[in-house]
Amino acid sequence: MISPYPLPTGLPGIATFFVTPDGLVRLGIATHLSTAALTLNGAHVTHFQPHGASPLLFVSGSSHLTPGRPIRGGVPVCFPWFGARAGDPQAPAHGFARTTQWAVESVTGSEETGVTAVLILTSTEATRAFWPHDFTARLRVEVTRELRLTLEVENPGPDPFLFEEALHTYFAISDVNDVTVTGLEGAAYLDKVAAGARQELGPDPLRFTGETDRIFPANTATCTIHDPGFPRRIVIEKTGSHSTVVWNPWIAKAAAMADFGDREWPQMLCIETANVGTDAITLAPGARHEMTALIRLG
Ligand code: BG6
Repeated sequence: MISPYPLPTGLPGIATFFVTPDGLVRLGIATHLSTAALTLNGAHVTHFQPHGASPLLFVSGSSHLTPGRPIRGGVPVCFPWFGARAGDPQAPAHGFARTTQWAVESVTGSEETGVTAVLILTSTEATRAFWPHDFTARLRVEVTRELRLTLEVENPGPDPFLFEEALHTYFAISDVNDVTVTGLEGAAYLDKVAAGARQELGPDPLRFTGETDRIFPANTATCTIHDPGFPRRIVIEKTGSHSTVVWNPWIAKAAAMADFGDREWPQMLCIETANVGTDAITLAPGARHEMTALIRLG
């Protein structure tokens, strides 16, 4: 497909922009260390694979892959709200950032050191129609043998604003029935499957036996997915994030989602690096906030 505008410049041989048949502008990255891909629609990382490993990210075979639609998998960027917008059921779930076209600020790097792409989204009339604030958001995507994602939000306006955010990462796993997650032992959570009831995990690693949709507030823990099937461990470290969200839709919810295969639910697990609910961020005029997720094999 012909690009709707001149494609940004990449790095010859290692970071190449192209347009998919459905009109998504994508950046494909391939260095000595790993391969990765992202789309400008939503600043959405869809692929990350260190050499010698299988892909760390899950993307549904039934996902929409067209401009303006959320992608089911990879790393959706949720901003400036998470889930349904309070008091506005018509507003897009998880905010507008994941369905808006971001611009490219820079692409740098080399075969040996990996590639860093910085994408930028600034307020426009269209974003102000949803959310009446001026902002600048940047997603820095550092692709080495690890994937480091930094979401930076700046307030250039005259008034403070409140926002939520999440790097809603879908991890590829062998079977959700067999994996465990360590790092959240004893942690308190809000159970969205039980109308938001407050619960606490026991001392054991987290296991999955049904639909799971949990927000762990005031939680800065490093989480590790232990996957005996592949076998491997995926470690998620974070900074600037006080919420962790854990999600698997299980059977019925998966069947109800049009953009998710009925039998895909065992192969994915979302561990989301976030600031949501009581951890939402208030940003003063001129202030900047940074949240980082570092994803690596352990
Ligand atoms: C999770 C939420 O983060 O995202 C779930 O906690 C939600 O409640 C899931 O179902 C998927 O959301 P969406 O909007 O991508 O279907």
